[in-house]
Amino acid sequence: MDFELIKQRIDELIAEIEQHNYNYYVLSQPNITDFEFDQLLSELAQLEKNYPNLVASNSPTQKVGSDLTRNFKSVKHRYPMLSLGNTYNEQELTEFDQRIRKQIGDGFEYVCELKFDGLAIGLRYENGLLMQALTRGDGTFGDEVTQNVKTISSIPHQISAVMLPQDFEIRGEIVMTRSGFNSFNQERIAQGEQAFANPRNAASGSIKMIDSEKVRLRPLECFLYALHGDNLPFSNHYDNLKAAKSWGFQVSDFRQKVDSLEGVFEFIEYWNHHRSQLDFDIDGIVIKVNDYELQRQLGFTAKTPRWAIAYKFKAEQVVTQLQSITYQVGRTGAVTPVANLDPILLAGTTVKRASLHNADIIASLDLHENDFVKIEKGGEIIPKIIEVDLQQRMADSKPIQFITHCPDCGTALVRMEDEAAFYCPNEWNCPPQIKGRIEHFVGRKMMDINMGQATVNLLFEKGLVRNISDLYTLTAKELYTLEGFQQKSVSNLLQSIQNSKSIPFEKVLFALGIRYVGETVAKKLASYFEDMEHLQSATALELQMVDEIGERISESVLNYFSQPNNNQVIQNLKNSGIQLKIQRNLQNYPDKLKGQTFVISGKFSMDRDVLKEQITNYGGKNLSAVSSNTDFLIAGENMGPAKLKKAENLGVKIISDVEFFKMIE
Ligand code: IVH
Repeated sequence: MDFELIKQRIDELIAEIEQHNYNYYVLSQPNITDFEFDQLLSELAQLEKNYPNLVASNSPTQKVGSDLTRNFKSVKHRYPMLSLGNTYNEQELTEFDQRIRKQIGDGFEYVCELKFDGLAIGLRYENGLLMQALTRGDGTFGDEVTQNVKTISSIPHQISAVMLPQDFEIRGEIVMTRSGFNSFNQERIAQGEQAFANPRNAASGSIKMIDSEKVRLRPLECFLYALHGDNLPFSNHYDNLKAAKSWGFQVSDFRQKVDSLEGVFEFIEYWNHHRSQLDFDIDGIVIKVNDYELQRQLGFTAKTPRWAIAYKFKAEQVVTQLQSITYQVGRTGAVTPVANLDPILLAGTTVKRASLHNADIIASLDLHENDFVKIEKGGEIIPKIIEVDLQQRMADSKPIQFITHCPDCGTALVRMEDEAAFYCPNEWNCPPQIKGRIEHFVGRKMMDINMGQATVNLLFEKGLVRNISDLYTLTAKELYTLEGFQQKSVSNLLQSIQNSKSIPFEKVLFALGIRYVGETVAKKLASYFEDMEHLQSATALELQMVDEIGERISESVLNYFSQPNNNQVIQNLKNSGIQLKIQRNLQNYPDKLKGQTFVISGKFSMDRDVLKEQITNYGGKNLSAVSSNTDFLIAGENMGPAKLKKAENLGVKIISDVEFFKMIE
């Protein structure tokens, strides 16, 4: 392979892995399976092994994934919080064992433990009191989440016990039980909130909430699996865990000392078959050398100990038969095929459906009617089809033909260039699109109107609401005609609609459901254009001047405002008193940067978003690229020389972050 191509592939892998790390650790919303993630990581590691001079210092192989957020104080770990080497096969485990034996000889013990699938936590105790709880963060610094952790009932706040070290740290995993997760998620769905995909995401999302009282209501548990400190009672891992259990910590009894690799394989085999019986998720088995002195001799690599390894279970797979395909139309008109399957038990739950995403996936699977398919549960609630079992295919079965017309309104579907999805173009008359837009509009992060899917359906079926602006003309008399609506529910709903009139402009913009205008883009557009009229009349060029807005988003915004129906809806919203202008809190932030435009480039000691936020807070505007319209370029480290030159030629003022902060002081 050509050197440039390899470098390019390495850069691609790094970017991709970093995005997945962010989805997993910070957003708690991974969109690939652990297996797929580990494959990307091992492809990168292999390339780096073959081309050592291409190893970047920021490569994800050299550091642990970070869950640091801006919501909590970041605190340095007393002992770095490392990750574990992973393997999915017995061969690699044998090599791990051989490496260890080569270094420390035979005659030692391993401890085999469950690999809990949640988020790592380190708890510091001093004189028996819980002083601090830190997430893993980037391994060196963690988020301080003590108040949230204190709401978990299985974590003791105070311990008095013999042999308790005066100062120690105990580490473990916070998980949500499966039973707790199921009822908690059902409640969320009933309240119109978005469901969590799995207990891990729910646990990790819960710990990162700002309000501890809300954390208290989440069914969380903590399993402890490691101790650190200078005066631990024993010189081996197993006995210290036993002591920790006697001090009142929740330590799983499902761990075992073994003195051979065969013993390790037996433990793995047992739990691979029995893991579905646990009330919490495990994603593998952890194997650790028991004796601390031997652990010390074996030492660490940059991010993992050499004395421990994780054997990860492959996602469970089963074969079942395809019954039919249902086509669902979303609020944007995109048509998503879903496979209806013969119900089958998989990883503890009965599976009846699998996502197929789009027509390309159906084609690449070469799916036929009544095929037997292998399914697997990844990071999502709904499992996916891995492959077709061709041996069981019936001779006369026909390939699945993607529908040509909308299943709801009968309009011929269209497919945009470069897009995998088919769309129903009947935006204004296709019921699921209309209802979907209303559901989106009333959502918690948008207009926060207390109305679930069922009510939206009722309002639509009765012809009371045909578009979002109709919500504001609803009367009590009309609402009484809805099944199940009594005085209290009517007045609550009307009040909630009334309250939404004070929702800030950026949320209103997000609520409109303009394609590609999510929460972040809406914020950027709102702060740049400041009111709806300026946004409505913006040209493509003006839109693309906004930080992070490219051709795709600008085209979608222009398309939205080119439709008279949308402009009519916006006029109605305006007449109803909805916020269509940003409200700046002048008291906290004087308009010091009003009329000034900024481009940020290079690396800074802080997150770039902090700078961007300050620019908008003080009335300035963030631009995407240097042009004659730019007033200031805030230049960080490693800024490209071409950009710098361009700025100089255009007479743009080039300042450092320190100078910027002086401007707003
Ligand atoms: S020991 C030096 N033991 O798995 C690393 N980790 O992939 C010590 N985990 O960050 C970790 N169960 O969050 C250990 N029984 C167990 C575990 C466990 C789950 C998690 C932990 C760690 C991750 C590594």
